[in-house]
Amino acid sequence: METEGTYDVQAIRAQFPILSRKVKGKDLVYLDNAATAQKPVAVIDALVHYYSHYNANIHRGLHTLADEATATYEASRAAVMHFVGASSTDEIIFTKGTTESINLVANAWGKSFLQEGDEIIITSLEHHANIVPWQMVAAEKKAILRVIPIDDNGILDMEAFKSMLGPKTKFVSVVHVSNALGIINPVEEIIRLAHEYNAVVLVDGAQSSVHLDIDVQTLGCDFYVFSGHKIYGPTGVGVLYGRRDLLESMPPYQGGGEMIKEVRFEHTTYNELPFKFEAGTPNIADVIALKAGIDFINTIGKAVIRKHEETLLEYATAKLKNIKGLRIIGDVKNKVSVISFVVDGVHPQDLAILLDNQGIAVRTGHHCTQPLMHRLGIVGTTRASFAAYNTIEEIDVLVEALNKSLKMLL
Ligand code: ALA
Repeated sequence: METEGTYDVQAIRAQFPILSRKVKGKDLVYLDNAATAQKPVAVIDALVHYYSHYNANIHRGLHTLADEATATYEASRAAVMHFVGASSTDEIIFTKGTTESINLVANAWGKSFLQEGDEIIITSLEHHANIVPWQMVAAEKKAILRVIPIDDNGILDMEAFKSMLGPKTKFVSVVHVSNALGIINPVEEIIRLAHEYNAVVLVDGAQSSVHLDIDVQTLGCDFYVFSGHKIYGPTGVGVLYGRRDLLESMPPYQGGGEMIKEVRFEHTTYNELPFKFEAGTPNIADVIALKAGIDFINTIGKAVIRKHEETLLEYATAKLKNIKGLRIIGDVKNKVSVISFVVDGVHPQDLAILLDNQGIAVRTGHHCTQPLMHRLGIVGTTRASFAAYNTIEEIDVLVEALNKSLKMLL
């Protein structure tokens, strides 16, 4: 396999134990990175080290282990703060993942500030996690959910968005990068326009956090959410960045230990940020290991990884386009290293099974974006998504396997 210039993909691969395993007797070719990224040994070691050496509850105990666990947990919060360009650790809340972060905002902000007839705007490209929580809160508050349309390539209709904005627009919740198609949305412009109407804006960064440089202050968003497991960290941990004044104005999402200042049976006062939103014992081990995922990205450099991924994307796009009957969905310029495609007369699930038999992991189906699939008039796609450790050779293996599979299916 190649070493591309100064990008030593083999040295990167060596950090990922799973990449040396076989699937169905073949070398694993893992191209399902938009679903979850594989974990470098540093992340796995961070988990083992925490449980082996300083497992303790945090913010509570006055003993050495508790102090070590608390300091390491909070170091992770500081790493996340830098990772997204926030100005204070008070604005970084740990959650279970993107889904919980959005539910937190929809419930804590939505239920407090939405009124009957208010409008929430999302896009046609949203993941179910950025649709259903808003439908639920809209139903409860008698608010209206509006959806920015797209063209047949998946590009947002910004003129339609402009015409939707008005005094009733209270919240805009928009995906930064489409998980299904890889398209990068013009979130800077969306934020700027929404703010002209004093609407609050949440950016779903589940897919952008790993590929794009994120600076929430430059973006100007009010909330930015993402999951640890897509940035080479563990599952079960995610992040909600929120602007301090908004977080302070919101009631807690869940009640319990940690999130309180003082509890009496008659009345309870709440803790300060960020603890107000972290009720109960948090996911200490995974938060700690998340920092190792961030360190992995920072050590190589996000821009360097992105350049590598763009090389893979360009190469794969050209190769796939040569396959008869294959159509890339969302074949646009401004996208990350995700290729979603359909092949005339072939069900994506049949294709996935045949690819798996050849050691290749891709995702197929609706990608938790059923309304998007419906809009595009397809049942689903086959999606190959690339990460820091993927190689040109793996794409060649994919193309060869696709050709072989399609011969069997057509
Ligand atoms: N949202 C993840 C995906 O797109 C799970 O695969």
